Formats: sequence, structure tokens, C-alpha cells
Amino acid sequence: MTLRLTVIGTGYLGATHAACMAELGFEVLGVDVDKEKIDSLSRGELPIHEPGLPELLRKHTESGRLRFTTSFDEAGAFGDVHFIAVGTPQRAGEHAADMTYVDASVAAIARAATKDSLIVGKSTVPVGSARRLKGLVAEESRDGVTVNFAWNPEFLREGFAVADTLRPDRLVMGSDSAAAEATLREVYADAISRDTPFISTDFETAELVKVAANAFLATKISFINAFSEVTETVGGNIRTLADAIGLDARIGRRFLNAGIGFGGGCLPKDIRALQARVSELGLDSTMRFLNEVDEVNLRRRDRAVYVAETLLGSLEGKKVAVLGVAFKPNSDDVRDSPALDVAARLYSSGADVSVYDPAANANASKRYPRLNYVDALATAVADADLVMLLTEWSEFVNIDPAELSGVVSHKQIVDGRNVLNHDKWTAAGWDIISLGHKSELLELAAAE
Ligand code: UDX
Repeated sequence: MTLRLTVIGTGYLGATHAACMAELGFEVLGVDVDKEKIDSLSRGELPIHEPGLPELLRKHTESGRLRFTTSFDEAGAFGDVHFIAVGTPQRAGEHAADMTYVDASVAAIARAATKDSLIVGKSTVPVGSARRLKGLVAEESRDGVTVNFAWNPEFLREGFAVADTLRPDRLVMGSDSAAAEATLREVYADAISRDTPFISTDFETAELVKVAANAFLATKISFINAFSEVTETVGGNIRTLADAIGLDARIGRRFLNAGIGFGGGCLPKDIRALQARVSELGLDSTMRFLNEVDEVNLRRRDRAVYVAETLLGSLEGKKVAVLGVAFKPNSDDVRDSPALDVAARLYSSGADVSVYDPAANANASKRYPRLNYVDALATAVADADLVMLLTEWSEFVNIDPAELSGVVSHKQIVDGRNVLNHDKWTAAGWDIISLGHKSELLELAAAE
């Protein structure tokens, strides 16, 4: 008999996982305490921007293969496998992860399970959590019902969430039971090809693989951004530097794009939570370098604001067009977005900030309602004293500078993501400054 799955927590990760598991042929029940979210998902409506996901959601809610509920009792009677996909946000005022939602949902589903089943954690958690949660499951589950426990971290990237779930590049699973492994292999059988690595390990390794991967990626970005600070001072081309070191197969070119740095719902929070966790373990100095990774990252935002301030003399009353506020392209997510942070700081310093993002305006305006959000690039740049490209949507990468020339007040652009072609912009009469590059224009402006 085909396994029936539940996915507890229907945010970004959970909604994607639920729809993709339905696509793999399972009957799936999504569970959330948020009734509004459940109602809208049941109607096939998705509150997030993720390529391919709305189609999957509609297809499977219509076919009835994917349903949603707020009832743990319903989920406990239905599911053979329960995936935990609730959030682990940064605790207010602290760096540590807030485990409240994970603990509550694991306990609730363990209590509600009326048949032998497997609970699989997917959220990103502090190392040591899975073993503790397994104990919680043993305490909470009903007499006569066997509830197994496993940890299966999620590596999906926003913008590629569907593909990453349906065709993962690796699967990692932590457990201490052969039965749990067999069940999870059955779930993923159609998602993995014969050569997709399936790494079966203990709980601690599985938890750490996720945070180690994100810490490494964050470090890689801050590494190139630290070199940006050098090239901004001494000269040199940060892109060529990244290309050249990236050709070393041991290093690799990906995640060496210098710019305003990383943001989003994962990387910043995960490196902070990791530091907090290892400190709790008494290893205060072990992950101290991640402080530096975080600081280098935040300094890029300062740099972007400094460049704008320097070019414009003062920001007071100047019109700055901000292109992109999502934390990365093809996403409407503005959680810890460097672009939105920079836009808000320009506003705080007196600039009249006009924002255009192809998908993230609505989310950004919830966070910073005072910026002027417009729904077209041309409107954003009209009469601008400065244009700042802060998220590298292809719509911006492919701008024809000649087309903007007659529209702006001053032909100057800051490339916060190192994606524009200098020669093209310069030939069209623009002053262009890319983060990570020394600039005479900036030096002249600073000397004034
Ligand atoms: C990340 C991990 O990649 C993913 O595996 C994990 O499951 C969740 O966290 P995501 O947050 O979707 O995924 O975004 P990612 O593509 O990793 O980008 C993170 C941030 O780094 C973005 O703000 C992006 O703009 C920035 N970045 C990325 C750079 O500044 N330079 C780069 O070279 C790459």
C-alpha cells in the first residue's frame, strides 16, 4: 500500500514539500495551526513566489491528492510518515534558534498518532535536538503504537525549491533504526536516481550537515566580499579574481559573487544559531570566525550606503531608484534582505527612495511601508539622481542603458551585485560604480 504522508508546517519549506510529495504520487495532508494559511492553501492559493509551485499546488488540491488541515488528530490517524517542516526562527534579541514550534509539533503529532508511523524532522535545528526529540516522541506516543524518528535536513534553494525537492543532489538521513531508513528510502524512491547519494548517518551528523553547508556557503560569500574591501582600496577586478580562483576545482566559482552580501531566511540565522549552539556546548572559540563572516557581510551594506552618500554629497531630498529588494532574484522573500536594508537606510538618511522589485514589493512594503514602491522599472528611475541595482533580477541585468538615459536626472548607477557590463554603461554616458571595485568617481566625490 502506498504510504500516506503528512507535512506539519506549511510555510515555505512545508508547502513545497507537501506539493512535491503529492507530485511523487503520495496522498499528502498538510498541517498547520494557522487556519487562514490552511484555507488559502486548500483553495490552491500560494502566498509565496516560487517558480512551478503554484501549478503543483493547484494540480494536486484539485485532484484531491493534496489536502490541508489544522487538525493533528486527523493527521495522526492519516499519516504513515509525518514530516516536520515548521520554522526555527532566531530567538528575539538572541542568536539561538527558537525550538518552540518544532518541540510543540513533534509532541502533538506523537500524541495524535494512532498507527505505527515515522516522524521525520526537516527543519534546521541546533545539533543535539533530534536525539532529544526522539526522547520526546517516546514519552508522548500512545501505548501500543510504535512511532519511529529520523532527521532528514532540507537543502532546497528558494527559486529552485521544486526542482531541488523533486531531484535532490543528495539525501541525508539521521536515524538509529533500519526501519526508519527503509521507509524514507521508499518515500524518496522516485525522486532519486540510481546515482543520487543517500547518506544514512546518525542524528548529530545529519543535523550538522545542514548547518555546515550553510556556514560554508556564507563563509565563501564573505571570503570574496572581504577581498572586495581590498580591491576597493588597491584596485583590481573582483570578478576576474573570483573567476580565476574559481577555476581551481578545489575552490569552484559558485558563491563567489561579490556584492552587498547574503541574506534570506537561512544563511544569516543559521550561522548565528550555530555559534550560539557551540557556545552552549562550551566551545566558545570554535565558530568565532563566523562572527567575522557575519560582520564582513554586514559591512557590505554599509559600503553600499556609503557609496550612495558619497556620490550624492548628501542623501537629503535626493531621489534614489532602488532596483530589487528581494534577498535574491526569482524570490519575493525579503527576510534579512541586504537590498531592503540598504533601501531603508537610504530612506532614513533623507533620500526619496523609489523601489521596484518584480516580485517582492508587497512583502517589502509590509516591512518598510514608507518607501515609495512602484510597479515598473521606468517609474522607479524617472528623475532619479542615482540608480542602485541591489538584487540581480534578469530584468535589471539586461537593462539597455540607452533606454534609461533620457529618463533619469543623473546618469549614475551603483551595481550592488556586480552583474552589469561596465563598458556598455560607460559607452552610454553613465557613471557606473560596482561594489568591490576601486572607483575614481568615488574618490573624486569623496574629496569634494
Ligand atoms: C540557502 C542554501 O543555499 C540552501 O541550500 C539552504 O537550504 C537554504 O539557504 P537560499 O536562502 O534560498 O538557500 O539562498 P542562496 O541561493 O543560498 O543565497 C543566499 C544569499 O547569498 C542571497 O542573499 C544571495 O544573494 C547571496 N549570494 C549568493 C551572494 O551574495 N553571492 C553569491 O555568490 C551567492
